[in-house]
Amino acid sequence: MVDGGLYIHFPWCVKKCPYCDFNSHPLRDDVDQGVYLRALLQDWDLQQRIFHPDFAERPFKTVFLGGGTPSLFHVQHVNQLLELTAGGADEVTMELNPGAREYGDLAAYRQAGVNRLSIGAQSFENPMLQALGRIHDADQTLTAFEVARASGFNNINVDLMWGLPGQEVAQALSDLRQAIALEPEHISWYQLTIEAKTEFAKRPPLLPVDRTLLDIEQAGLELLEAEGYRRYEISAFAKPGRECLHNLNYWSFGDYVGLGAGAHGKLTHRGRRLRTRQASQPRLYQSDPERLGVQDIAEDELALEFMMNALRLVQGVDQASFVSRTGLPWSSIAPTWQALVEQGLVHAQHCGTTPMGLRYLDSVLTSFVTTR
Ligand SMILES: C[S@@+](CC[C@H](N)C(=O)[O-])C[C@H]1O[C@@H](n2cnc3c(N)ncnc32)[C@H](O)[C@@H]1O
Ligand code: SF4
Repeated sequence: MVDGGLYIHFPWCVKKCPYCDFNSHPLRDDVDQGVYLRALLQDWDLQQRIFHPDFAERPFKTVFLGGGTPSLFHVQHVNQLLELTAGGADEVTMELNPGAREYGDLAAYRQAGVNRLSIGAQSFENPMLQALGRIHDADQTLTAFEVARASGFNNINVDLMWGLPGQEVAQALSDLRQAIALEPEHISWYQLTIEAKTEFAKRPPLLPVDRTLLDIEQAGLELLEAEGYRRYEISAFAKPGRECLHNLNYWSFGDYVGLGAGAHGKLTHRGRRLRTRQASQPRLYQSDPERLGVQDIAEDELALEFMMNALRLVQGVDQASFVSRTGLPWSSIAPTWQALVEQGLVHAQHCGTTPMGLRYLDSVLTSFVTTR
């Protein structure tokens, strides 16, 4: 078993949402999915040759089909990809936009080996969905969820966002209650952020004031907890034993292979810690999937990179995993850590934040930024 995950990116959506800075492009008629599949297979061959000549006999623990909107990817293509890469994986997740299920039915994806779905609900209020530029309404989300269950999916995540334009506490809680009523195994509850270069950055909507955001967050966390969804990462909540294994690997700074336009990977190879990155533009990627960027993670960035992931986890990780995952001794950050302990932001014996440290994670992380 390769100790890590495989991420496969599908870079198209029916329409670009105004808040989104993921590598996604509007799906035009001239997109040939067969060409993209061939590029993915070439990418896979290349990375197999470079990093793990024995990929094929050592299945990944987890596979994640992300996007963009991978549920637009023809099921026969998904099937072909998973046959090659996912045999023996414990968790195979696919993101699903409730408005984009034109190709194949969910049972066919289940048959192809997808065993976990992540449904992009975002909100259950139709005017809010419109303000977010979504291509679906709340009924379509409910239908997608129902069809997913009927198709044999017993591990489903629902993505919701909060802090939406003009949102009041009651509206955010109502969204959460409607998600909880579906009884998904997992809920991702993201605060809307305005990302540079998005439509929302150019024409910012009026977001709730800080006081309202704090009230939404506090009430939402209480509600999720009371309904049996344990917070294990800043925005991730799961029923017992239903945490997302793929993301847990990212957050514990584990290795993963990234395939597809704009996909990046992180690999420990012959004692080096490497980042891989593919061209973002689908056309460029398809024209030469072998133009893979491979770079060592600079030694003075390793501690920050590790902490940016591990400290998102509510329980943190043990200090030994800092040493094994970065190759650095704990003593290299001990003085910084001690200063944070004294401010009550992190634990003394364990690589994790206190509740206050989690709330002010950005300032905790600045302590690990090194200036060259
Ligand atoms: C790749 S998208 C999910 C799949 C699919 N493309 C969709 O939107 O339904 C990942 C999730 O990130 C969240 N997200 C995207 N942009 C965000 C932003 N600016 N602020 C907060 N959450 C965001 C959304 O909840 C979204 O469902
Ligand atoms: S559908 Fe998902 S990936 Fe595509 S633009 Fe919208 S949020 Fe981004």
